[in-house]
Amino acid sequence: MTDWDQCYREGNTPWNRGLPSPALAEYLARQPLNGRVFVPGCGLGHDVALLAKQGAQPTGFDISPLAHEKARATHPDLPPETFVLGDLYALPEAFLEAFDAMVEHTCLSAMPPEWRPRYRDAVASVLKPGGLIVGVWYINPDLDPGETGPPYPLPLSELDALFADGFEVVEDYVPEVGYEGRVGRERLRVLRKVG
Ligand SMILES: C[S@@+](CC[C@H](N)C(=O)[O-])C[C@H]1O[C@@H](n2cnc3c(N)ncnc32)[C@H](O)[C@@H]1O
Repeated sequence: MTDWDQCYREGNTPWNRGLPSPALAEYLARQPLNGRVFVPGCGLGHDVALLAKQGAQPTGFDISPLAHEKARATHPDLPPETFVLGDLYALPEAFLEAFDAMVEHTCLSAMPPEWRPRYRDAVASVLKPGGLIVGVWYINPDLDPGETGPPYPLPLSELDALFADGFEVVEDYVPEVGYEGRVGRERLRVLRKVG
């Protein structure tokens, strides 16, 4: 189990690039999200700030108290309640079917593979019927020999299988933009909750 708060305490946060996901930003420039948007594992909240700037009502959600504190401090222009401290696997009841969309960006890839169905159930539970998952799925992280993660590689076939029931694919491509070193290793897939 990763101690996320310890990662933030030690500054061991290689995922934090200080700016929103370029692939997400490129998508949102074409297809801005409206309404309430859930961002689990939001870290310091760069994606959350972008969504707010574009007119959505984002909720950045993270399990690390220090990340939560830092997200609020990094974005003093956003109302503090934009950032909520909590566990994706023990969601507040008020979140159930409360969101029009959610954004995935390096949250699932941080979870052990056996948690993927729990992740799917959790994110599905917060979405209204017809709600969107806009995902920058980290498909091909490089691992050192012998390492298994995090980040945990997510084969495309597993992403397909995970959302085969109850979701339809709206858009799907390999983004041409990304953080340095990430281009070609991510997949932008948008899913809609159906039924
Ligand atoms: C790899 S980091 C990515 C952070 C952010 N998305 C970014 O790209 O900068 C994963 C984040 O998920 C958070 N996290 C891990 N498990 C979580 C859980 N069960 N519920 C909510 N957040 C969680 C961690 O604290 C961490 O901030």
